[in-house]
Amino acid sequence: MKTILYTSRSSEEESINISKAATAILQSELIAFPTETVYGLGADVFDERAIKKIFRVKKRPADNPLIVHVETTRWVERLYQKIPKYFHTLAEAFWPGPLSLIGYKHASVSDLVTARLSKIAVRMPDHSIALRLMRAVGVPLVAPSANLSGSVSPTTARDVLRDLDGKIFGVLDGGPCNVGIESTVLDISSHRVRILRPGKITAEEIEDVIHQQVVYAKASLKRPASPGMKYMHYAPKAYLMLFFGDQDHCLGKMLERLYLLKFVGGRVGVLAPEKMRSNQFDAFYSLGKGDAVDYARGMYTGMSSLDDKDLDVIFCPAISEEGLGVAVMNRLRKAASEIVR
Ligand code: TXA
Ligand code: MG
Repeated sequence: MKTILYTSRSSEEESINISKAATAILQSELIAFPTETVYGLGADVFDERAIKKIFRVKKRPADNPLIVHVETTRWVERLYQKIPKYFHTLAEAFWPGPLSLIGYKHASVSDLVTARLSKIAVRMPDHSIALRLMRAVGVPLVAPSANLSGSVSPTTARDVLRDLDGKIFGVLDGGPCNVGIESTVLDISSHRVRILRPGKITAEEIEDVIHQQVVYAKASLKRPASPGMKYMHYAPKAYLMLFFGDQDHCLGKMLERLYLLKFVGGRVGVLAPEKMRSNQFDAFYSLGKGDAVDYARGMYTGMSSLDDKDLDVIFCPAISEEGLGVAVMNRLRKAASEIVR
């Protein structure tokens, strides 16, 4: 399939492009479109064939639900079984905008949308192309970020093509996204309002509007997600992050990451040379002097012993790929879920 890039140099051209894209969606094709956060990969929320295509094209795990995008709040009656208590207050304050609101799903919405969960996430994006596209299609659109599962979310049409060129019908080019990170995902289905994914809209902003405390759901970073996992023959259960650079650089990067992980309630252990030991981490496993011999000797034991400590993430500095270091790094690269430089 040749992916069409719809670039518009005038408002007339933009209108034509939007109606072409809408027609494609009505024929069960996938169209990537800009929102204020990241580009989404859109399909008609009531079109199961197209939704299956989204999972296939993105290589998305079948248990990862999709966010439904609406152009008018009138649709929410058809999406939620019952309008959540804080829905109107929040939609009034933040829609259109980067806030996805979770409530119980209406029976008429396919289980494919919510990956068989009983709840559904809905948001109204703050982008004229997205809104006009939905108006033209006449139904809400499911839209995960328009990237391959496990890869970085796209914030330009070019980013979308990087992952999906030749795999989808077209991309509506709306230039770079304003916000650049995905929406805040907020569960308002019960009286305990929870942030499942932090985003542009903060807990404080939400609290100011609903006059109630907002909590962060504990992040489950352990959940095996990316299809690449099947290549990780040596992976610990925790999410292993491999840090490159000299020791000071690594330590600086680790503390940066530690802060972010703590923010979402993550538990972090470290597999590293003794001299990097710090009580800021939840667990530490010493790799002695930190040469290749000590790494080779300690790393498997270290990983399994850290895995017993109920950690979400393990940090590990890389070593130079020479001599025994080549084998050590071969195993560590296979074990790693993420590389940090
Ligand atoms: O800003 C955004 O939200 C972008 C743009 C395109 O709107 N979309 C986006 O979609 O980031 P996606 O599929 O890449 O991420 C959706 C996140 C996933 O972490 C998913 O698990 C969560 O929202 N999610 C969706 N529906 C959910 C539900 N019913 N319950 C819990 N989490 C849900
Ligand atoms: Mg995504």
